[in-house]
Amino acid sequence: MSEPRKIVLSGMRSTGRIHLGNYFGAVRNWVALQERYDCYYFAADWHALTSDYADPSEIAGNTLEVVADWIAAGVDPERAVVFVQSMVPEHAELHLLLSMITPLGWLERVPTYKEQIRQLENRDLETYGFLGYPLLQTADIVLYRADCVPVGEDQASHLEISREIVRRFNSLYGEVFPEPKALFTPTPKVPGLDGRKMSKSYGNTIALADSPEEIRRKCAGMFTDPTRIRRKDPGHPESCNLFAFHQLLSPPELAERVALQCRAAEIGCVEDKRLLAEQIIAFLEPMRRRREELLADRGELLRLLAVGSERARERAGRTMEAVRAALRLDYRGALSR
Ligand code: TRP
Repeated sequence: MSEPRKIVLSGMRSTGRIHLGNYFGAVRNWVALQERYDCYYFAADWHALTSDYADPSEIAGNTLEVVADWIAAGVDPERAVVFVQSMVPEHAELHLLLSMITPLGWLERVPTYKEQIRQLENRDLETYGFLGYPLLQTADIVLYRADCVPVGEDQASHLEISREIVRRFNSLYGEVFPEPKALFTPTPKVPGLDGRKMSKSYGNTIALADSPEEIRRKCAGMFTDPTRIRRKDPGHPESCNLFAFHQLLSPPELAERVALQCRAAEIGCVEDKRLLAEQIIAFLEPMRRRREELLADRGELLRLLAVGSERARERAGRTMEAVRAALRLDYRGALSR
């Protein structure tokens, strides 16, 4: 018999359409992991609520948008378990139980905590729920007894606290959870239109859903090699935003040719932007079409998520039985003790 496959789990907050940074930084990797692991991928709608609680009206719609994007990008809901956090209420139960053993200091020390409060300064994030963000994330992971969590570097501190909480739980009540490991996969840096990291909060993104016209307009406004001032100046592809994108998604021959022509001042930035826009459009076209089909029938998409969430609940339910027994809070067990 072959070994049971390891469990991979990852999630993304339901904050709307995904962009090329999310695609190359995470989702492309999720797609590849389906080959070798039993994968659980979910929309973290409760995590979205920790910062968007004052206006939650878009969260459910955003959940459908992100899930349509994942599937369009190659996540296969027949193979991976694709679900919604709030459709599996066991996440909340486990979060509560873990909160009993989690020292406040551990949560306050997570570097992303103070950083986010500073960054999102127009919102009041001095809430219990926001402080508990990494704890809810811990519940998400250990509820499935996941072995590996593909995360970006920015999430490393969250995984560290997850491991600490698991150790504390296991030492108090017995070995219930495996310690989840971070699965770091080298991912390319995806610059935004302005050269900073592509990120929704910087407003410098290209979404998988962007229309060809939007992509042409966005590319026309991209920052390029700042040292190339006149058309006849030779350019430096290695420090140019446009070239970073060519490397990500243009055919290698084209990327190479453009680099040569740029260094020789044979191609100008304006022309290169037009060329790049067409490459991005072609790259995204199949995904854009697929996500449109999916979103044209939201009822069907929702049914798909209901099925995925039911599958997730089976595994989550088994873990919760073990957790309640370990805590001596299983009342059937209590009758026989
Ligand atoms: N915090 C993650 C993000 O912002 C989302 C997330 C929630 C997550 N729960 C998770 C990621 C569990 C991995 C595992 O992208």
